[in-house]
Amino acid sequence: MPGSLDRLQGYLARLDEQADLARLEAILTDARVRDDLLLRDLGCYCQFCDKAYARNLVCESRWHQLYVMCWRPGQASSVHDHRGSACAFRVLTGECTEVRFEREDAGVVRPVSSVVYETGFVCATEDDDIHMIANRSASENLVTLHCYSPALTTWNEYETDDAALGSFLRTAACSPVIATRTRGAAPSTS
Ligand SMILES: [Fe+2]
Repeated sequence: MPGSLDRLQGYLARLDEQADLARLEAILTDARVRDDLLLRDLGCYCQFCDKAYARNLVCESRWHQLYVMCWRPGQASSVHDHRGSACAFRVLTGECTEVRFEREDAGVVRPVSSVVYETGFVCATEDDDIHMIANRSASENLVTLHCYSPALTTWNEYETDDAALGSFLRTAACSPVIATRTRGAAPSTS
């Protein structure tokens, strides 16, 4: 029987159109998926960076990208969308905080929810969802496995009011005003 990584990569490699997000989510949530085995099989991609969270590319085609993302305590992504790529990810170890945002007017978004995902949790997001991912642990690393379909080549990032965002994370108050900019193909960190 193929392992979790083989099933996932087999599905991704056969894609000739955008992945079905529900199917991708189902593969990642399959009861046979074991995080310890995925971490073992993906061990060579578990590379951290002290400056920012690290995006380690496992495989890609026109229709998918598979990344192992490694987050030191306190590291976070930008506030971003996925501009045409659906995304599903699984927490392989650690605690993952996702903050989701909603558009108010052109170029303006505000945070609306903050959720902590434990090891083994799978999250699926549509292409125009706006979110940020963070490792808010004081001491534990976070490793996540991200699938994008089709390959994510451009996306929008949003300027944040750090003080207001911090306030939101603590109190669920919503006040930041955020402006859009577009970014190009993924660097090793962003
Ligand atoms: Fe994302």
